[in-house]
Amino acid sequence: MLDEKRLVEKAIKAMENAYAPYSGFRVGACALASDGSEFTGSNIENASYGLTVCAERVALFKAYSEGKRNIVALAVAAGVDEPVSPCGACRQVILELAPEAIVLLSNRDGSKVMRTSPKELLPYGFKL
Ligand code: THU
Repeated sequence: MLDEKRLVEKAIKAMENAYAPYSGFRVGACALASDGSEFTGSNIENASYGLTVCAERVALFKAYSEGKRNIVALAVAAGVDEPVSPCGACRQVILELAPEAIVLLSNRDGSKVMRTSPKELLPYGFKL
């Protein structure tokens, strides 16, 4: 049974590790694999701006690079009042790397969480 609240807490905690000196906008994520392993991510910015990687992608890339490909849930949190809305690039990556995942989008303290899916986030997404 998925403990959604706990996964969201991990995403909120991962915001602490954001490297966001340019935007000041901290994002955290936590991907849960089917074997119970968890992979946190935070946004990592760069002075060249365009090389910035979002928290969602860091978490999913960590999971995949550790051989965990069956992602059952992904929680994302940011320092905002309403549930964070993943960028278009992350929606494309989530659709491919975690197509069946339950996606939990949280605000800064977990008081507002939206429960959605990769297909709902990106209908008609690009696939090869
Ligand atoms: N960001 C994420 O990490 N995830 C999102 O879903 C939205 C945006 C980051 C990228 C950048 O470091 C900062 O938030 C502002 O865009």
